[in-house]
Amino acid sequence: MTKAWLEKRKRDYYYQKAKKEKYRSRAAYKLLQAASKYKFIRKGDIVVDLGSAPGGWLQASRKLVGAKGFVLGVDLKPIDPLPEENVQTLIGDITDKKLAKKIMELLPRKADVVLCDASPNISGVWEVDHARQIDLATHALRLAERILKRKGNFFVKVFQGDMLNDYIKEMKRLFYTVRLIKPQASRAESSEIFLLGIELNG
Ligand SMILES: C[S@@+](CC[C@H](N)C(=O)[O-])C[C@H]1O[C@@H](n2cnc3c(N)ncnc32)[C@H](O)[C@@H]1O
Repeated sequence: MTKAWLEKRKRDYYYQKAKKEKYRSRAAYKLLQAASKYKFIRKGDIVVDLGSAPGGWLQASRKLVGAKGFVLGVDLKPIDPLPEENVQTLIGDITDKKLAKKIMELLPRKADVVLCDASPNISGVWEVDHARQIDLATHALRLAERILKRKGNFFVKVFQGDMLNDYIKEMKRLFYTVRLIKPQASRAESSEIFLLGIELNG
């Protein structure tokens, strides 16, 4: 992180807002804005969040599901526990074939929603980062097929690039509706966009 990058972050509107509203990341607003528009997380839902450290999306999901829902966060890194007992975390790797089973052991039933904001380590080489990101998103999609209930929803971050069309095609095969979303909180200069798969056709 350069000094210029740290200075720019301090001036960032959503960074300041997250600090004020005690969200662990500015990314929380990307989820809140998309969920507010498309209503894909409801009170009482079971949500699994893949690539969830430091936990901004976990806080946002907890707000949306309320006290009767359940939120499980998975990341390679440990996540500081959240105060609410219906938010749990698991150290895990999205690419691990045994992860679906480990997740299902912690859920009361199949998930209503699977989220994925996982990012690879950024190399700075566009094609490499795009390929690594699509690989993570593909593992997340495979996982979602196993842990989502029929008609469940899937919300995933992807980087734009030449492999994206095939990924969207695969999502269209699995979900009744697929939307491309660029929330206001996602920086215009960032190549990230979000895909929402509505209702797994199971
Ligand atoms: C942008 S951060 C997520 C931020 C989070 N949504 C929030 O609001 O706090 C991306 C995360 O993906 C995680 N990640 C990357 N590769 C992963 C993998 N193979 N399995 C699990 N997590 C992974 C990273 O450790 C990192 O914490």
